[in-house]
Amino acid sequence: MNYYAIVLAAGKGTRMKSRDPERSKVSYPILGKALVNYVIDAILPVGMKEIVVVVGFGGEVTKKLVEDRAKVIWQKDLVGTGNAVLQAKELLKDKEGSTLVICGDTPLVTTETIEHIFKVHKKIKNHLTIVTSVLEKPDGYGRIIRDSKSNYVLAIKEDKDCSEDEKDIREVNAGLYIFDNKFLFEYINQLTADNSQREYYLTDLVGIFKRNGKKVGAYVVENAVEVFGINDRVQLSYAGKVIRKRINHRLMMSGVSMEDPDSTYISPDVEIGKDTVILPNTTIFGKCKIGEANTIGPNTFLDTVEIGDDNVIQSSWISDSKIGSYNEIGPFTKMRAGTIVANHCRVGNFVELKNTELNDGVKAAHLTYLGDCQIGEKTNVGCGTITANYDGFNKMHTEIGKNVFLGSGTILVAPLKVEDSSFTAAGSTITKDVKEDSLVIARARQVEIEHGYTTFMNKAKAKKEASKK
Ligand code: UD1
Ligand code: MG
Repeated sequence: MNYYAIVLAAGKGTRMKSRDPERSKVSYPILGKALVNYVIDAILPVGMKEIVVVVGFGGEVTKKLVEDRAKVIWQKDLVGTGNAVLQAKELLKDKEGSTLVICGDTPLVTTETIEHIFKVHKKIKNHLTIVTSVLEKPDGYGRIIRDSKSNYVLAIKEDKDCSEDEKDIREVNAGLYIFDNKFLFEYINQLTADNSQREYYLTDLVGIFKRNGKKVGAYVVENAVEVFGINDRVQLSYAGKVIRKRINHRLMMSGVSMEDPDSTYISPDVEIGKDTVILPNTTIFGKCKIGEANTIGPNTFLDTVEIGDDNVIQSSWISDSKIGSYNEIGPFTKMRAGTIVANHCRVGNFVELKNTELNDGVKAAHLTYLGDCQIGEKTNVGCGTITANYDGFNKMHTEIGKNVFLGSGTILVAPLKVEDSSFTAAGSTITKDVKEDSLVIARARQVEIEHGYTTFMNKAKAKKEASKK
């Protein structure tokens, strides 16, 4: 049996109240990842022949988010969920199989549930399976109308079209359906916009399938949170909390420690090895791969970083970098794109690294900027060292050998090469290459004027007096 999926992601998201008129609802992130991508993540492992995402409002943004994993089709006029599915007709109408239709704003749905619904759909030979849940507060959702005697589903009625009595029904439409693909596209043109919102409701297909003698079943989902749809920012933050809990729980069960999971924000694509400890107020985004027995945090932000084992990383901000093993980093280190730190290095407070490679055993303990730079093994970077790598037009490279001792306050004016085992005196401004095993001093000599201070003060006093007269 072939499976297809249509993800509805063209809607406006008016209730998000963004200042940006082009921002689609499904592009809002949770832990750095867009809502629609949570839905695709849940669908993918089920094994789909094709995933189609219907975009419209803010469609260019949505398209970029999904186009590497799904086929994108456009809905021009946003006239309802039925019309959104209709846009996939040309692409899918001749396919044999089952088609999942799901809203792009339901990030809490899980692969297990989708797999299970496909199984049920197949087992009881439905032509249409709708997914429902029973809610305390059903307001806003479509209500499930059942036959009072047989209890069969007769129709789904949108909140705005319900009578007062129907509004009391607590079983709601989750916005997730499995259709026999052929019948879906055979009947979809029968939808009309004959309702209070003047929209083509996908939900009207329930009645149409029934009238055509097709089998419609309802699957009541156990954990109602899975079908939670996001329409405003309060719901967005709630879903964020649920996702965070799930991720942290999974990681802790696999051997990662978290001192305070409530203040630990880890995105779904992060991998962390056993015995790594994450301390409070730490955020780890992007596709980070973190090894074993590291201590990370408190107050640390990592985005797209590869980290080996046995490192200590405290109160630091690191993105798009690679860190080996047995390093001590922070507190208050910043590493930007292209930073590589090998093993047994020490990078301390107020040190910023960009596009810089530190080989084994390098120490840069305090107040330093290293940009576009390569540093050999066991070199010591003194406090206050700066690579002057930018002349206002170009970024230039600095190469520093191994076992070099850069004295405190060295300014390295790039492009520059400092060879192995050399030594720069504190406060030097280095503008020429430094040879192996040499000692360079590049600063003005100290001048001493005897009684200079008194002379200076007397002169200043005299000047002040003169100006008073
Ligand atoms: C929909 C269902 C409702 C269900 C609820 C569950 C219909 C008519 N109603 O209502 O029964 O209880 O979801 O969350 O289907 N979209 C498009 N094109 C459009 C309109 C919407 O792609 O023209 C997309 C939206 O981006 C969204 C999804 O369809 O991802 C649902 O749209 P939304 O406006 O949120 O529908 P609800 O009113 O929540
Ligand atoms: Mg909705």
